[in-house]
Amino acid sequence: MNPMAAATEPSRPHPGTILHVDMDAFFAAIEQREQPELRGKPVVVGSPRDQRGVVATASYEARQFGIHSAMPSRTAYQRCPHAIFVPVRHELYAAVSRRVMALFRGITPIVEPLSIDEAFLDVSGVVRPDRDPVDLAREIKAKLRRQLGLTGSVGVAPNKFLAKLASDMEKPDGLTVTPSTPTAIRAFLAPLPIRKIWGVGPHTAEKLLKRGIRTIGDIQKRSEHDMIRLLGTGFGRQVYRLAFGIDERRVSPEPHEEKSISNEETFEKDVSDPTVIRHTLLRLTEKVGRRLRAAGKLASTGQIKFRYADFQTFTRQQTLPHATHTDHDLLHCAKSLFERVSLQQPIRLIGFGASGLLDVDAPRPPRQLELFDNPEDDDIERYQALDRAVDELRQRFGPQILMRGLPATKPGAEKKTAGYSTLRAGGQVE
Ligand code: TTP
Ligand code: MG
Repeated sequence: MNPMAAATEPSRPHPGTILHVDMDAFFAAIEQREQPELRGKPVVVGSPRDQRGVVATASYEARQFGIHSAMPSRTAYQRCPHAIFVPVRHELYAAVSRRVMALFRGITPIVEPLSIDEAFLDVSGVVRPDRDPVDLAREIKAKLRRQLGLTGSVGVAPNKFLAKLASDMEKPDGLTVTPSTPTAIRAFLAPLPIRKIWGVGPHTAEKLLKRGIRTIGDIQKRSEHDMIRLLGTGFGRQVYRLAFGIDERRVSPEPHEEKSISNEETFEKDVSDPTVIRHTLLRLTEKVGRRLRAAGKLASTGQIKFRYADFQTFTRQQTLPHATHTDHDLLHCAKSLFERVSLQQPIRLIGFGASGLLDVDAPRPPRQLELFDNPEDDDIERYQALDRAVDELRQRFGPQILMRGLPATKPGAEKKTAGYSTLRAGGQVE
């Protein structure tokens, strides 16, 4: 316990030892870091302002205009015509995320990543008489700023539920310490709306509202039996206990593995031209390849997804001959899946996804011999080197710098090369 902290903040004699850190406006903050001219400006990361598609996130400057995640980009543009729209660069954010998590692991080995920009940390094993959990929270914030040029909001609490609640309370750049005695926790939770309880979504909230239960305090006034009657044994008991801040879930240092990586695109207008659809699929597949490589993952299965104009949605999937992350293999898979589809209607959306993800470094069974199309090891190395070079160029100059030549549908109809073309600034293919 830090004696100074105790002197200045007597309300927290024993701060809890669970931290939740959530980065502020993560994608937008990274873009502002990378492009200094965007700093202090309303920045929207997501689909372009004049296209169908949504906002992934917005800088806090843009949020003042009512812009938020998952809002259509066109609405965001209406709300703030001078906002700067930038495209999503997943591989960059994934790389920064790995550095953020590594920074956390430098504080304590017990780190449980929850999503790309948030994690729980259990610091009970690393507190010292002169360094309490609040000091550690300050240290994390200072390191995030100094080493990564980013800010995060931290909640310090006796358990996961309270820590996550707390990290959200003073965003951005917040540091919130919850009480840690049962009576004080109860009073802290009482005024909050029931939606703040972990697991209470709109459906449950509506059910409870009908019974006059609006705040966590309203639950505290009921009996556990009441809550069980309303929500069932398991969930009712859980909600009741959380209403008093009781949460015994441990911070599990096993990372929450990404189970799949996918990219999809909704067309501006429904499309029936297979060349356009193939071209889009190719671009999306390459994007998945880049994200796999950035995350250090290999895919075991590839999948295409398409949605017709009438919203019927279909997927087709295929096990890859071997776990892979090369564009060559993924494009081959996407192409062969697409060839098996006979389109019945114009298409509204197309996507490619990779699942069955394995770590690049994890031991794997030896590759099976394949009857067809088994690239020699030399070829694999060549594909990997090409992917690396392309990833690097795209990282530096943006995804449009290189475009893969489109395989022709009809002989002579298009360029037949499977190589890359560089784009001139004006967008012409060289
Ligand atoms: P969040 O942590 O929910 O949002 P944020 O970090 O942008 O902002 P905040 O300060 O409120 O935490 O999500 C992390 C990233 O995940 C976010 O930067 C972009 C991405 N994301 C989406 O792509 N779509 C979404 O709907 C949401 C909620 C997030
Ligand atoms: Mg965040």
